[in-house]
This record gives sequence, structure tokens and C-alpha cells, in this order.
Amino acid sequence: MQEKTFYITTPIYYPNDKLHIGHSYTTVAADTMARYKKLRGYDVKFLTGTDEHGQKIERTAKSKGLEPKEYVDGIIKWIKELWSTMDIDYDIFLRTTDEKHVSAVQKIFKKLYDQGDIYKGYYEGLYCSPCETFFTERQAQNHKCPDCGRDVESIKEEAYFFKLSKYQKRLEEYIENNPNFIMPKTRQKEMINNFLKPGLEDLCVSRTSFKWGIPVTFDPDHIVYVWLDALTNYITALGAYSDDDTEYKKFWPADVHLVGKEIVRFHAIIWPAILMALGEPLPKQIYGHGWLVINGSKMSKSKGNVVNPIVLINRYGVDSVRYFLLREVPFGQDGNFTNESLISRINSDLANDLGNLVSRTVGMIDKYFDGILPEKQKSLSIDKEIEDLSIKTVINVENYMEQMFFSDALSEIWNFIKRCNKYIDETTPWILAKDESKKEELANIMYILSESLRIISILIEPFMPNTPKHIREQLNIKDENLNLWESTKKFGLLDRKVKITKGEIIFPRIDIKKEIEELDKLIKIPTTKEEEKEEVKNELISIDDFDKINLKVGKVIECEKVEGSDKLLKSKIKVNNEIKQIVSGIYKYYSPQDMIGKNVIVVTNLKPVKLRGILSEGMILAASDENGNLSLCTVDKDIIDGSVVK
Ligand code: ME8
Ligand code: MG
Repeated sequence: MQEKTFYITTPIYYPNDKLHIGHSYTTVAADTMARYKKLRGYDVKFLTGTDEHGQKIERTAKSKGLEPKEYVDGIIKWIKELWSTMDIDYDIFLRTTDEKHVSAVQKIFKKLYDQGDIYKGYYEGLYCSPCETFFTERQAQNHKCPDCGRDVESIKEEAYFFKLSKYQKRLEEYIENNPNFIMPKTRQKEMINNFLKPGLEDLCVSRTSFKWGIPVTFDPDHIVYVWLDALTNYITALGAYSDDDTEYKKFWPADVHLVGKEIVRFHAIIWPAILMALGEPLPKQIYGHGWLVINGSKMSKSKGNVVNPIVLINRYGVDSVRYFLLREVPFGQDGNFTNESLISRINSDLANDLGNLVSRTVGMIDKYFDGILPEKQKSLSIDKEIEDLSIKTVINVENYMEQMFFSDALSEIWNFIKRCNKYIDETTPWILAKDESKKEELANIMYILSESLRIISILIEPFMPNTPKHIREQLNIKDENLNLWESTKKFGLLDRKVKITKGEIIFPRIDIKKEIEELDKLIKIPTTKEEEKEEVKNELISIDDFDKINLKVGKVIECEKVEGSDKLLKSKIKVNNEIKQIVSGIYKYYSPQDMIGKNVIVVTNLKPVKLRGILSEGMILAASDENGNLSLCTVDKDIIDGSVVK
């Protein structure tokens, strides 16, 4: 029989001496999935690594007086230590500065050039160096990066281009025919609406204005664009385009590329197009998870609002932190991080539910049976209920894990844990213990609880790699067969007459109020860095500045789509006695019929511009979010057009 394989990847991280708990989130999720599949008997490859080239790193290294490679070497050491502290059990750690990767990227670039998928041209446009991303004028409004909000630079240089546009149709078809390719479904819609529908443009894939990158072999003034370099890591790590590609043949295509939502487009559009051009199979799935946010804004080094995972691990242990990350946030959505939510999770789920179940069970066996787990006697109907729930829990957990619904899987396991605690309260062993004739019944309850804990210890293992050991030590489970995933499917396997060893409390209860005070001191959600203050000050405007902008209510009286554009609407808007013609890029969100009759807010003193040759005499205000939603600003009550907005 052929072995089942499973290949899972995290993004490769920018070398960063402040990897925070948001970064750990991707890695912990991937590690959990990899551990789960290993438990299920798969031959698993779990890849992570570092994305070490690019202008930003070159600049940072220079500012520290170091060579780029010297600078990154120091950081990579630290990142590996962090992953080891977090029990991230990766199989491959790829560095894009590895010789094997570099030469494979060069071969790939040459192959694409030779076959005409890469051509030489001229690049003129905008570039965000922190994000290493090119933008068009439309994407980077006011020359601000749409991803990080910082200023983009205008750049102009000779460059190679990848024929991304050529793959538009095939990509559309592929996404349509493979509904699980981009997950969750909302991300798939974003990709189609925000990138495919407006049309793909060829992608600039080389740079000449700095040096820190992989040289193009046949034109050494050029280095390979860092995203092309980075994306190919998923195949070069397995030896693709090297002398030995056995692993590549065995594990590719990847089962899942796990990535944060802001980089889904690189993975779901650019990467598949490159693979199509190379004639390689596409990954089975791109899974875009949400962000860890603090007070509504993404945790990120540049904002300074980061939480250091090491601080938390030192206080609560790695299993608690891993548990929190995967339990608190439904995978795929954003999740708000607060010190309170972390502590109350640990206290209620780990100390109260799981910790208590272990210490109560072991304590009672110790007390009532001198530490010898009694034999199972007879089954009462309430015992049967626990057995059935155990079997059902395993099935549900498996279903959720297949979809990477970590939070739901944990919530299933915890329902079972809670049910077991309730079983103790319902059967009142401390009363039975006083009655010699109830000894059998009492023995039964102890058995059911111990067996449930055995099964729970297996179910939590992918999430919490250390806790199962502690549970098994106390229950004295020595037989490895009783720790296999398959053994969860049968209730009643635990050896009888085993000696229980009462151990330490696995999750001590926390005094929430005191702990929060201390944690708040350690983990300040920082806002006060000097440079940040400076930035804010620079951004403040006076009332006089604001007065320069004329905002008025206007009524849309006519509206039509701009011929030849799938983004623009042309509206005639009545403002007082004037009719203004305004072109706006909102066709994706509003049809012309939607617009007519709406009271909108218009900037009336904007210099007129021509868009697609059509005069636009102002701007309509709208709000948009990072999920690609857009909503027009309008007025709350009916009010005559021309009313001033202040
Ligand atoms: O993007 N919450 O690297 P990176 C959740 N080098 N996830 C977060 C997060 C947060 N607050 N902040 C970061 C890159 N991440 C490229 C990838 S792959 C070929 C190249 C996640 O170091 C982020 O979403 O900026 C991403 O998945 C990962 O950390 C690495 O981010
Ligand atoms: Mg990033």
C-alpha cells in the first residue's frame, strides 16, 4: 500500500528580531496540523523558514553596519530558538540564502525567460519597500501603501516581467473548478472580485536599484524580485530543480499553504501562475487565516503593538499559549488579543476544566482505592452516555481537523471534559465511598474517568504537545499503543489494576485580578514610542486646514457605467443649483440603478481631473475596509442637496 503523505507549509518569515505572537499563530496552527496528521499515520513534511532577501533587509543591515548575510544569520538563530521554545516541530527550515534554493531559483528564472514567460521591459511605478510590493497609482492612493499605510516610493528602472496576464483565464477556470483551492470561501471571493475581475497585469520580477537578492544569471545587473524568490521556496525546499528531487516527487503538490490573509493574493494568484508556466502541479489548497489584532489594529512590528510570546510562555507554559491561540480565534477570522482573554481562557478551560478533571480523578483513586485503578465492573446507563460521547467527540474532532477548524475541534474536546466533570458531580463518589455496598459502582466511575482522560490526552496532543505526558504519567500509561490516535475509537482499553501516581497540578489556578495587574505591567500595549508621537503630530491638521475642504450633500440624478471600464461609474449629482459630473471607482459595489436618488457626500472644491478621458468634478466619499467592502457615506435623515457637511 502506498504511504499517505501530507505536505504543509507556513510562509517564510522576514528575518525580524521581534517575531511576535501574531507570527507564532501561523506556525502554531501549521505545527498542530502537522502533528495531527503524523498521529493519523501520514508521512508528513512540515516546512517553515525565512525570506532573507530584499531592499528592506539590505537597508536595515546597512543601518547596523553589517553585511546583509551577517545581519540575518544572527536573527535566524533567534527565530529557530523561538520555534523550539514553542515546540514547533518542523521538518525543513528553508533559508532563501541557502545555496540549493538560490541555484534552483536561477534555473527557474532562466527557464521562464527561455520559454518566453519572462521578458525584458521597463518598470515605472510605485514600490513599498517594507512590504516589498509593487503598486499601481490606483492601488496606492495618495502614494500610501494599501497594506501597511506607509509612503510608497516612485521607482523607474529596467526590469524583467512575468506574463501574469497570460494565465488569467486558466486561473479563473482553476479557481472555479476547484472550490476548495482558496479557503475560507470569503478569501476566494476577495481574490476573484479584487484581483481577477479587474484584470491581471504582467508582474515586474527583477530589480536593479539594489543588490541584496538572487542574481539573474544571464543579466547580473538584475536580481530576482523577492516574492518570486520567496514563493518558489515551497518547491525548492523539497529539491525541485536540484540534482535530487525525490522528496519533491513524493510530497508535491502541497496539501496546504497556510498564510495570513494579507498575502493570499501572492499565493492564490501569482504562485499558481508561476507553477502553470513551469508546468508543475498546483498546491491543493491556500488557506488564509485572520490576524491577531490589538484594539482593532493588526499586531505588527511597525506599529509597535506586539506581544512577545516568550513573556507569555515563561509565565503560563507553552501549551497554555498554544491552546489560547487556537481556541480563542475561529480560524480564518481576526481575533482580538487582550491580557484578560488570555488569562481567563487559561483559568477556566485549563485550570478549572482539564486540570480539575485530572486532579479529582487521580485524587479519588488514590483516596478510595489506594492508588490502584480498579477493574471495570458493570456498566450503568450514565456510563454508557460518557462512552457514547467519547466516540462521538472523536468523530467530530476528526471532521473539524480536516477543515482546520481548530477552535471547533477544541471546543468539542472541552465539551467532553466538561461532561466528565459533571459526571463526577452527578455520581457523587464521595457519598458512594461511605457505603461498602457501592464499592463496585465507585470502581466503575473511576475507570470511566481514567479511560476518558486517556482519550482526552490523545485528542489534545496535536495542540498541546506536553500536557499528554503529564496526564499519562499520573495514570501510569506505559503501553504506547494506548496513546495512538486509533485507540481513541474504542472505549475501555485502559489496563486495569494500574498504579496511579498522584502528580503535580498540571495547570495551577490563577488569581485573575492580581495576574492581570502584573501582566499589564509586563505587556503594555505600547502606543507611546517617540517616533509614533512624532508621526501623529505630523498628521494633525488645524481647523483652518479642514475648512479648506468643501463637503456638501448631493443627490444622484443620473448614473451610468463608464464604457470600457469595469470599475468606473459616471454620476450626475445635483448640489444646490449645480449639476456636477463625478467619476468614481465603485462599480464593483454599486450598480447605476443603486445610485440614482441617493444622497451622497461630495467634495465640491477638488480640482477637476479626467478619468478615462471623462471629466470628474469632485469626489464622492465612501468607507472601505481591508476585507474589500465599500460603503458610500450618506446622510442619516432626508436633507436638501447643497447642505454643508462640517
Ligand atoms: O509576509 N496575526 O512574511 P512576514 C496573524 N515573507 N498573523 C500574522 C500577524 C498577526 N498580527 N502578523 C504577521 C511575509 N502574521 C513573507 C512571506 S511566503 C512565500 C513569504 C503572519 O514575516 C503573516 O500573515 O511578514 C504571515 O502569514 C506570517 O506571519 C509571516 O509574515
Ligand atoms: Mg507581513
